[in-house]
Amino acid sequence: MKIVVVGKGGVGKTTIVANLARLLGREGLNVIAIDADPSLNLATAVGIPKEVADEAPVLFDEEEFIRSRTLLPDGFIKLNPKVDDVVEKFGIKGPDNVVVLKLGEVKKGGMRCLCPEYAFLRALLSHLIIGKKDLVIIDMVAGLEPMSRGAIRGVDLVLCVVEPSIKSLDVATKIEKFSRDIGVKKLEVVANKVRDSKDIEFIETNIGRKVFHWIPFDTSVIEADYRGVSLIDYKPGSPAITSLSALKDKILSILQHMYKSSS
Ligand SMILES: Nc1ncnc2c1ncn2[C@@H]1O[C@H](COP(=O)(O)OP(=O)(O)OP(=O)(O)O)[C@@H](O)[C@H]1O
Ligand SMILES: [Mg+2]
Repeated sequence: MKIVVVGKGGVGKTTIVANLARLLGREGLNVIAIDADPSLNLATAVGIPKEVADEAPVLFDEEEFIRSRTLLPDGFIKLNPKVDDVVEKFGIKGPDNVVVLKLGEVKKGGMRCLCPEYAFLRALLSHLIIGKKDLVIIDMVAGLEPMSRGAIRGVDLVLCVVEPSIKSLDVATKIEKFSRDIGVKKLEVVANKVRDSKDIEFIETNIGRKVFHWIPFDTSVIEADYRGVSLIDYKPGSPAITSLSALKDKILSILQHMYKSSS
């Protein structure tokens, strides 16, 4: 299963991806958490020590490697570049069966969707899912970069994170339209930093659809961030983790349904 987590800057994407990845890993899934945000802070949020995380290579910075795999001698791009060793080469092993891959950003302009990085990302995303026990979750760069296009198309579930603010809801509305236009199979809204039922009402009224799941405003998230540690290690019983655990169950049920209907 492939999940991509999107939303306006600062809504809580990294917090959600990191802790969901850990919770899903604990269920016995092989989780690959991809950091597609240039600020690259997913690994520490997952609980990998900062020194280890900082030392690990950033995939899209390895230009020679990407070019050697994607470019043909005549300058064309291979549609199926070899990617089977990427996780082994670049993945950082984290706790609970989670491997983090630092993707970084696509720097080139021009024909973006045809550049080697996209060809590589497409191949990578299709290759990483081999069995029912594999799950890829992507922490996407904020907003609607062209980057999102390649990564969003073909995923099983887009989780669009919002907080009770008009700006985040505007971004969500755009993401929803964009996802519909490119034929995304399933998009759900996750409300984060919720203080009371009025916040949910405000969100649902402004985006014109039901919230799939909500996570409370929780100061432990801020404290864990402050200390540069993972929330699930710092406060495993916090309200945010309890809520994320319920979200994990909803995802597992989608996953079960997906494989039942495809078999
Ligand atoms: N449920 C929550 N309760 C309180 N604070 C939260 C909650 N979730 C996230 N935060 C805080 O919001 C800020 C942004 O969170 P996070 O980095 O996860 O968001 P993001 O969407 O990944 O941001 P960016 O777009 O910058 O990558 C952090 O300071 C974090 O501590
Ligand atoms: Mg982030």
